[in-house]
Amino acid sequence: MEVKAFYWNGEYLELLDQRELPEREIWLELRDYTDVAKAIKDMAVRGAPAIGCVAAYGFLLGIRAGEDPQRVYQTLKNTRPTAYNLFWALDRMLKALQEGKNLEEEAKKIEEEDYMANKKMGELGAQLIPERARVLTHCNTGALATAGWGTALGVVRSAHYAGKDIFVWVDETRPYLQGSRLTAWELLKEGIPHKIITDSSAGYLMRKGLVDCVLVGADRITRDYYVANKIGTYALSVLAKAHGIPFYVVAPKSTFDLNSHGEDDIKIEERSEEEVKVIKGVRIAPNNSPALHLAFDITPPENITAIITEEGIIKP
Ligand code: MRU
Repeated sequence: MEVKAFYWNGEYLELLDQRELPEREIWLELRDYTDVAKAIKDMAVRGAPAIGCVAAYGFLLGIRAGEDPQRVYQTLKNTRPTAYNLFWALDRMLKALQEGKNLEEEAKKIEEEDYMANKKMGELGAQLIPERARVLTHCNTGALATAGWGTALGVVRSAHYAGKDIFVWVDETRPYLQGSRLTAWELLKEGIPHKIITDSSAGYLMRKGLVDCVLVGADRITRDYYVANKIGTYALSVLAKAHGIPFYVVAPKSTFDLNSHGEDDIKIEERSEEEVKVIKGVRIAPNNSPALHLAFDITPPENITAIITEEGIIKP
């Protein structure tokens, strides 16, 4: 069965708590827009498109409860600053409210459109992936990060189902371990061959000729093709360029912030240092050592071979 990160059941939002994966599959019942905001902020749900879809349902819950639209909008907006899909979805819901549209229909449309965009990107992207390719990917960009199928991992899925005999190197993705906990879990469910690697392995594997291409998602893309994505993406782009390996970004139109230019227009989320120093309740660093936890970095267009969107392939 296809993996789903959330379900709207007509009354409230059912959300798979991604913090508990892969050990436990726990579903949360989100009945209030503030529960939705907390789930986004605390990363029970994560991945730019999934955040956008869930925020749309959060907005619907707030309006149905008779809350002030501006308060609902701002509360949901102030959860995570980098993923553009969040702002895009909330702006669309606010506009739908102002235009007197059916908000439930609008939120469902956002979800369905994202799923269809993923399928289309999968189809287009798979054409770029050679037979028996060894793909390296970072973070989780699969069904868990979207309305279903996935962006970069969606391309992997489509290539796999096209019979291309794909193998995936899965960056573990410190500190949240989206790669080892979530991407590996999804690949295992699909029966796609893979191996988890520590984030620092990529360069050596590339040098040994063991990586054919890099596929990553995006949290925000500026008008001039600067790409914000999970911290570590920029380093991979530099390594790929140095080794002559294609570096592909896979993202729907809803990730493009057409009002921004260059890297200074993108706000990079900084999260708590405790998330770096403590893993699942176990302290792995001295309490008194400070740590820096940037959640994203920015890859410049000159390091990107192509951006795969649902409308076509862009060569920045
Ligand atoms: O902090 P996260 O887990 O929300 O970060 C997710 C990513 O960086 C993904 O690569 C990005 O959102 C694209 S997901 C389709």
